[in-house]
Amino acid sequence: MDLRQLGSTGPRVSAIGLGAMGMSGMYGPADETESIATVHAAMDAGVTLIDTGDFYGMGHNELLIRDALRSSGRNRDEVQISVKFGALRDADGGWWGNDARPQAVKNFLAYSLGRLGTDHIDVYRPARLDPAVPIEETVGAIAEQIQAGHVRHIGLSEVGAETLRRAHAVHPIADLQIEYSLISRGIEAEILPTARELGIGITAYGVLSRGLISGHWRADQAVAPGDFRGISPRFAAGNVDTNLRLVEALRAVAEAKGATVAQTAIAWVLAQGEDIVPLVGARRRERLSEALGALDLKLEADDLAAIEAAVPVGAAAGDRYVAAQMAHLDSEK
Ligand SMILES: NC(=O)c1ccc[n+]([C@@H]2O[C@H](COP(=O)([O-])OP(=O)(O)OC[C@H]3O[C@@H](n4cnc5c(N)ncnc54)[C@H](OP(=O)(O)O)[C@@H]3O)[C@@H](O)[C@H]2O)c1
Repeated sequence: MDLRQLGSTGPRVSAIGLGAMGMSGMYGPADETESIATVHAAMDAGVTLIDTGDFYGMGHNELLIRDALRSSGRNRDEVQISVKFGALRDADGGWWGNDARPQAVKNFLAYSLGRLGTDHIDVYRPARLDPAVPIEETVGAIAEQIQAGHVRHIGLSEVGAETLRRAHAVHPIADLQIEYSLISRGIEAEILPTARELGIGITAYGVLSRGLISGHWRADQAVAPGDFRGISPRFAAGNVDTNLRLVEALRAVAEAKGATVAQTAIAWVLAQGEDIVPLVGARRRERLSEALGALDLKLEADDLAAIEAAVPVGAAAGDRYVAAQMAHLDSEK
């Protein structure tokens, strides 16, 4: 497995990371045994970066990662665990904003360490900017936890260029986690150049647009209650047909390369720079194996041009999130 450096100060991690969110209900029910087997298969393949959030399944995702690590027989330090905190939820799965006050940092972190069964988190990040708290205070509070030995590196998630600069002035930021894919290229104008100027890496999520551009999604696919895709504008009737037409154009390019659609979409993100680490949201070994095949797909300039002609910038229909969730994205302001 190739390694990539997360920013100029962050850890060296596998070129593809595993995002565990889907293993805790965000895409409908997941099979726990298969989820753990998928984490083991990822580690066997050399994946070292595992991404979670304390609010994924209200702690379920962290407990799952703890169990997977324990049953793998591996040392804790063979993997880097990235944790998001701050999202406020309720027992019905509702979302109630974010809390990134310094006292909340300490509180969330203590619970995460307990659930993960570890004494440190490799990259700790607020899931969203808390509009009520200056980013300097949140970053300063995480920096204190680095001093205390509970955290190794600071990351951010879905923030814009100005917030990146303010945060980085307080403490070096290892990486920005943000949606980036063939159909979500918003970071290219300002956020990615700013991250590069500051030496901040990118962990790209949604590289398959939550399965939409995986080559496996069908317009008539059933969506379980609670599955994010049931409310996502990109999967909404009308929009999904436009988006799947882009996927069919991409499929033609992929097949000419002897690759699958998912591999081509992931390889395109990998090809955008050594400072970018795609997170794949596989929750089954079969999908993981397909996704990791992207590492063997070498895209030349003419391949990249063909891919971008098949899926032109801005061609996707629908926003990344519903309006209420878009309002929480500092990266979209
Ligand atoms: N910072 C943030 O705001 C934020 C937001 C969202 C996610 N994330 C993180 O990023 C990670 C990845 O995000 P994501 O889940 O949206 O990513 P994604 O990789 O775009 O989508 C994952 C979905 O794609 C489907 N899929 C189909 N073929 C696949 C293949 N070959 N390999 C992998 N998946 C395939 C899977 O569905 P099936 O399992 O049904 O096949 C899976 O549920 C998450 O797990 C989470 O850790 C961060």
